[in-house]
Amino acid sequence: MNDQEPADFSRVADALRWGEEVLAEESINGARLQATLLLGDAMGLNRAQLLASLREPVAAGAAEKFRTSIASRASHVPLQYIRGHAPFLDFEVAVRPGVFIPRPETEMVVEEALALWQPTAEVSWAVDVGTGSGIISIALARARPAARICTIDRSPAPLVTARQNAASLDVADRIAFIRGDLLSPLGADHHQPPANVRQSVGMVISNPPYAPENGREVDPEVSDHEPREAWAAGPEGMDAYARLIPQAANLLLPGRPLILELGYGQSELVADLLASDGRWDEPRILPDFNEIPRIVTVLRK
Ligand SMILES: C[S@@+](CC[C@H](N)C(=O)[O-])C[C@H]1O[C@@H](n2cnc3c(N)ncnc32)[C@H](O)[C@@H]1O
Repeated sequence: MNDQEPADFSRVADALRWGEEVLAEESINGARLQATLLLGDAMGLNRAQLLASLREPVAAGAAEKFRTSIASRASHVPLQYIRGHAPFLDFEVAVRPGVFIPRPETEMVVEEALALWQPTAEVSWAVDVGTGSGIISIALARARPAARICTIDRSPAPLVTARQNAASLDVADRIAFIRGDLLSPLGADHHQPPANVRQSVGMVISNPPYAPENGREVDPEVSDHEPREAWAAGPEGMDAYARLIPQAANLLLPGRPLILELGYGQSELVADLLASDGRWDEPRILPDFNEIPRIVTVLRK
């Protein structure tokens, strides 16, 4: 790491320049922006306020906090873990180590789900498998005031964080947080769940783990810092899909959608799993903003 650290930052501009240089030396993309965000956090200023204060001094406490944040980021701790929050659609959630960081691709998954699903009094529930920070469940609950969401994660840390996020966004009373393995808590493992459960669930949505477990396709920033259970899904990254698709078919009534986020190169493999299960209509595969097939939506036959 850059050791030309000034003894003190006499001005905001000096601190920013130092932070940017340290991050750029460690090949962090967008070093200037990230240094700006971290210095703003340390000083309690938003970006516009910080940029209007370039000639101002940096107080000792803020300088110390900034140095610590820059050191973490230079060792590739994700920016969102250092800042403690991340944006998703029109809201922010808290994130911390042990909880998967929201990705922009998942916003498209939610938008697609909202286009396909309207809760009614009789069919008010959606099931979100793999809670993470709670973004999918929270976004659905915010957009559909009549909706109730059952969100399931097998790790405790995401459920704690997601519940806090939902509470601070005022939707916790419409979300059930359940610890368990995929759709097993609803009795969808090998059999059809009870009729009243099947009747009330209008949609299953999931951004499951989908990378090969040896981490060969995963950015080291992810594999070194984000929870392994959030990204690793067996030798080919297909294990969660292979178990979830038949479970979702056990749970959903005909005409009701399953919506999945896809990993790179997995659309045909997932389409094969759906076809061999035999209980699904023809899937729609949708691309993300990089033209990578990213979402599958499919209706139960
Ligand atoms: C890729 S993250 C997605 C988190 C969040 N939905 C999002 O889109 O940001 C996958 C989540 O699934 C959870 N998970 C992994 N395997 C699971 C399983 N077998 N059953 C339930 N949850 C699981 C992980 O703990 C993690 O929180």
